Amino acid sequence: MSRLPRFQEHLKTGFTAEAVSAAYFRAYAERAEKAGKTNLAARWRDLAAEKDRLAAIQLEAAGKVHDEVTALRAALAEEKYENDVLYPRMMRDVDDQTAEVFRQVVAAQQEQAAVLEQLQDDLQSAAGDI
Ligand SMILES: [Fe+2]
Repeated sequence: MSRLPRFQEHLKTGFTAEAVSAAYFRAYAERAEKAGKTNLAARWRDLAAEKDRLAAIQLEAAGKVHDEVTALRAALAEEKYENDVLYPRMMRDVDDQTAEVFRQVVAAQQEQAAVLEQLQDDLQSAAGDI
């Protein structure tokens, strides 16, 4: 079994911790927004952006920020795996309400995969920036 070098393992752990915090903070912002607390929502979003930044520097340090072609290929492969294997497997193992959440995620991710494919096409036909 191949293992990541220790520094990469720890950077991955740090990345995941900060990325998860960012997602939590955005969810808190969403809830605050729905409660009419727009200033609180903005503060949560600012903190989430900071967490994104901390996640990104760890990803970069781990050597996991790829060139655009590799990044798109990896993103599409990951989405395909999640939509075709991961979520369907989890759907079969949970109650109907949770399965419905996963179905919504897959539906949204299928749309996002189409956007990624379009981005891939746009990049292939672009000389510089798209
Ligand atoms: Fe995904």
